[in-house]
Amino acid sequence: MNHSTHRGVATKNYPPGPKGHWLLGSLRPYSLEPIEFLQEQTERYGAFVHFKLVHNDAYCITDPELIREVYLNQHTKFVKNRFFWGHVTEIFGRGLLTNEGESWKVQRKLAAPAFQRRSISCYMACMRDFTEAMLNDWQDGEKRSLHDEMMRVTADIAAKTLFDKSLDQGGQRILEAVHRIEEQIPIRLRRPFFFIDKLPLKNNRIYHENLNILDEEIHAFIEAEAHSSTPSNTLLSMLMSARYEDGSGMSRQQLRDEVISIFLAGHDTTAISLSWTAYLLSGHPAIKERMLSEIDTVLDNRSPSFEDLAQLRFTRNVLKESMRLYPAAYMTGRDAYEDVDIGGYTIRKGSMVFISPAVMHRLPEYFPEPDVFNPDRWDTIDERALRFVYIPFGGGPRVCIGEHFSMMEAMTLLSMIYQRFDLQYAGKAPEGAMLSATMVPRQGMPMCFSKRIRIKESDTMSPAMMQENL
Ligand code: HEM
Repeated sequence: MNHSTHRGVATKNYPPGPKGHWLLGSLRPYSLEPIEFLQEQTERYGAFVHFKLVHNDAYCITDPELIREVYLNQHTKFVKNRFFWGHVTEIFGRGLLTNEGESWKVQRKLAAPAFQRRSISCYMACMRDFTEAMLNDWQDGEKRSLHDEMMRVTADIAAKTLFDKSLDQGGQRILEAVHRIEEQIPIRLRRPFFFIDKLPLKNNRIYHENLNILDEEIHAFIEAEAHSSTPSNTLLSMLMSARYEDGSGMSRQQLRDEVISIFLAGHDTTAISLSWTAYLLSGHPAIKERMLSEIDTVLDNRSPSFEDLAQLRFTRNVLKESMRLYPAAYMTGRDAYEDVDIGGYTIRKGSMVFISPAVMHRLPEYFPEPDVFNPDRWDTIDERALRFVYIPFGGGPRVCIGEHFSMMEAMTLLSMIYQRFDLQYAGKAPEGAMLSATMVPRQGMPMCFSKRIRIKESDTMSPAMMQENL
């Protein structure tokens, strides 16, 4: 890229970019439509763009080699974006999602074994049971918000795998509190100034009241686990038995922060990915038929086992392609913790860097016909070459710790849902995305469920048998 040929506020200190408003810079267009804004700037100025958000320097990076610098090679020089996470520090505390520095490193090392493929395979039965219960509740011909259904089932699975707690038995209070807090997150994230979070507003009161409820409940789970004679087979129990180098365990507060972060980071992202997958399938019947045929052949009316998931190759491609077009975590952001030299420029301490999976995933140089839903592209793509291009789970040491968990959960849900039901989008208009911390379906993804009737060969009657029956 030849920086000197671009128009904008390029100086030898900054890569090119839009001039923006004299006071607010690009705050307005960025806040209104962040993905479109970054896409437009990338098309106009290239793979390294500079702009202003009020008095802050901000950068958008879409060159995978520069993303490698931020996510991996120079990751210790960055912290998570405070413009974003600063509004919700009371929720996540020093949990993995927002923790920094040495403390993050130690916590990540301690938590990692609990999220390895081998450790989480035991949660497959729980995922199947909750999916089965949800499907038993669905009626042929009815219309429901698929997003609500997915949010509920992923919350059920998260509560069971984290604390061995069923949300039906006394867990309603925590679910309600989580729901209220999740409603408040987009409201807080849209605020341009932090002082608004401290004002005596109704929304701030709701936020704090529900955070107190969530705290009470989580601390009660931690105490129950600490005093239990037999440790449960839960993520909480694994975190509680993990030991630092000096032999001590995590404090109650640290456990609380980790558990809430995992619960909140984990359930809506998976739910959202499934809702968008069903939406794409509904609009692409030929692709859906191929997926149904694979599910029917591999599973043959059984519930999927851990081993079966590896055989569902096309179904996995469908999921990957849907996470390309609709990455639930559409934006990752960092703040420079010190001056950082990248791509021939110095990103000054305190500047913000935006890396957007939503923007990266539609770059035509990596994904020809980027807006087309084409799961087959994953058969020919060299995924190692796309390591810092296809980034639905981020990248580098801060890559999503729940990646295997969520893929196993999403594949289980997807295959079991389509084994039993056909889903048709029933919204009055095409579904749109509401951009909060995640890419939420604005209309709740209304879907019509029709029971699939699958006639196995052994169930069909031969002409001779039909004759006999007459
Ligand atoms: C489709 C589902 C999911 C998506 C799209 C997703 C996406 C992401 C992304 C992009 C990041 C990195 C953010 C950044 O670099 O700023 C991340 C981090 C994280 N995710 Fe996920 N996630 C998903 C599911 C889960 C699940 C199921 C869990 C837990 C069970 C989880 C827990 C976390 C945690 C704790 C982090 C912070 C990791 C760290 O910084 O060390 N996520 N996720």
